Amino acid sequence: MTVLVTGGAGFIGSNFVFHMMKEHPEYRIVCLDALTYAGNLSTLEGVLDDRNFRFVKGDIADRDLVYSLFDEDRPDVVVNFAAESHVDRSIEDPEVFLRTNIIGTSVLMDASRRCCVKRFHQVSTDEVYGDLPLDRPDLFFTEDTPLHTSSPYSSSKAGADLLVLAYHRTYGLPVTISRCSNNYGPYQFPEKLIPLMIINALSDRPLPVYGKGENVRDWLYVEDHCRAIDLIIHHGRVGEVYNIGGHNEMKNIDIVRLILRELGKPESLITHVADRKGHDLRYAIDPAKMHGELGWLPETRFRDGIVKTIRWYLDNENWWKDIVSGHYKIVEQGLVERCR
Ligand code: NAD
Ligand code: TYD
Repeated sequence: MTVLVTGGAGFIGSNFVFHMMKEHPEYRIVCLDALTYAGNLSTLEGVLDDRNFRFVKGDIADRDLVYSLFDEDRPDVVVNFAAESHVDRSIEDPEVFLRTNIIGTSVLMDASRRCCVKRFHQVSTDEVYGDLPLDRPDLFFTEDTPLHTSSPYSSSKAGADLLVLAYHRTYGLPVTISRCSNNYGPYQFPEKLIPLMIINALSDRPLPVYGKGENVRDWLYVEDHCRAIDLIIHHGRVGEVYNIGGHNEMKNIDIVRLILRELGKPESLITHVADRKGHDLRYAIDPAKMHGELGWLPETRFRDGIVKTIRWYLDNENWWKDIVSGHYKIVEQGLVERCR
């Protein structure tokens, strides 16, 4: 069995590569990643020489490259993590989000049709549902909630989701989609809330909280997300959407305070800054379908997951310091050569 993992040098993709290599050591894993600013090949350094692993640097929207990779590696399953993933960047410059997240997904699906893959899995997000009001804790996103996006990022992900379902209906491509809530854990790029706050706190720099910090996100430890995708590609029903989330809603300001407490740093580091444009108020997933059909439940409680994550950033200073300094992109050239 060959699994093509796109975006495997990013946060969730790399955790998924490690998960699959541990849980399915007999599988061959091929990772296609363009190594944008968010891709870090040193994350995968420990598996680069594994005989069941292959890394290819390339853009999912590059049709010639993608077709020749599929012809060579003949993947049975494709799991598409590759994406531009940061809402703030999408507000500054939407175009690359459309190219990677929509065009890139369509190129991968065309290649998947040509090669008759057994499953094309699209890693999507709960952000395609838009947001929920803060004063209605009884409301949750289900798979039937209408798509109602707020940012260029979430709109590009919703566009991709619609295209994936269209490829199923029109061409019979065997697809599944998962829509997960906010992830946290090792190897998350320090532009996202949790790693940014940990790193700024460690460096005694201000912690920029958008607005009052009252916005709510539903946090899931990354390994629980990887396990859910593993279940979907093996046992999920073709043509279906699965919501993934852990019923763990928290206000941003409470997360920031918790991180400061764990690190023994003062709350005076908190700096309230201008709110994000179009800032979604609350995300909350109803994961009943994942539980009912596939028996999935999150295993890591937030309290344990956040402590593990903080510990990871403390123990892996070189990983994030190389990103902060830009050195990771210099190291990368040598690692790419090693993969040729
Ligand atoms: P990330 O930004 O950490 O990683 C994205 C990876 O994709 C990087 O390695 C990057 O180099 C690669 N990439 C970008 N453009 C590419 C292209 N054109 N061709 C090939 N590779 C390209 O993102 P992440 O947080 O790991 O998210 C992975 C997926 O999960 C995304 O599709 C995202 O929408 C989805 N998701 C993320 C979260 C979250 O909380 N982070 C939650 C739900 C869903
Ligand atoms: P983020 O990690 O960017 O994920 P998303 O926007 O996809 O949910 O942001 C999580 C929340 O934290 C979101 O409500 C915006 C907020 N936030 C801040 O308050 N300050 C920051 O510096 C960042 C990056 C995010």
